[in-house]
Amino acid sequence: MKFLIFLGSARDSTPPRPARLGQRVSLMCHRLIAERAHDARIIDPLEYDMGGIFKPHFAYGEGRAPRALSDLAEEISAADGYVMVSPEYNHSMSPALAHLLNHFGASRFAWKPSAIVTYSAGQWGGARASMGMRGFLSELGCLPVSAMSHLPKAQEVLDDAGAWTTGPAEWDGYVGRTLGQLEWWAEAAQRQRLEGDTEATGAFDRAPSQRNAP
Ligand SMILES: Cc1cc2nc3c(=O)[nH]c(=O)nc-3n(C[C@H](O)[C@H](O)[C@H](O)COP(=O)(O)O)c2cc1C
Repeated sequence: MKFLIFLGSARDSTPPRPARLGQRVSLMCHRLIAERAHDARIIDPLEYDMGGIFKPHFAYGEGRAPRALSDLAEEISAADGYVMVSPEYNHSMSPALAHLLNHFGASRFAWKPSAIVTYSAGQWGGARASMGMRGFLSELGCLPVSAMSHLPKAQEVLDDAGAWTTGPAEWDGYVGRTLGQLEWWAEAAQRQRLEGDTEATGAFDRAPSQRNAP
């Protein structure tokens, strides 16, 4: 299967500023998914020029969006699941991650699972940000699995290459529980997508009012 790991930090970490910890967390997730014999790619918001003005991919019209945005849209559609790596900013999910995800319609993410992996430089590991992420990801249609991973003091527990500095087996097991659930649901959803008709439940693709109660 193919998983996309969204790195939720677009912070300028040019030395001597602190390292961009999201990179370490994403590299660690990438290794764990690769060890499960799946494909994974890290999506780094710094590699996408989203301009100063917000214009979602679907607002450009057929074939008119910037190439990089269209390529990412295709990748999102083709993926079997997502790992959402986010720091905690003011007890909320990363604005960079929300901004990147907001560029794409929910239909590209729908019928697939996601995993929430948060981190922080402090002691709570982004747990408070993760609560809002559940609602956000549910609305996108990539339902988050129940086991979340929260990494406090990420600058101490992961080195620049994304390797644990302490207790690697314990940390692998902790994050592995989240990724194990992601894998289980991704396999189940993949089978169901291949066998079933995802349109059977009625896609809301004409107007937002289609969601309204009668
Ligand atoms: C604007 C801002 C708000 C932050 N708010 C929180 C917070 O609410 N909780 C927390 O644990 N850390 C908070 N932090 C610290 C981040 O966890 C820390 O900077 C982390 O390294 C950010 O991730 P990054 O290095 O991948 O950019 C905040 C940092 C910034 C810049």
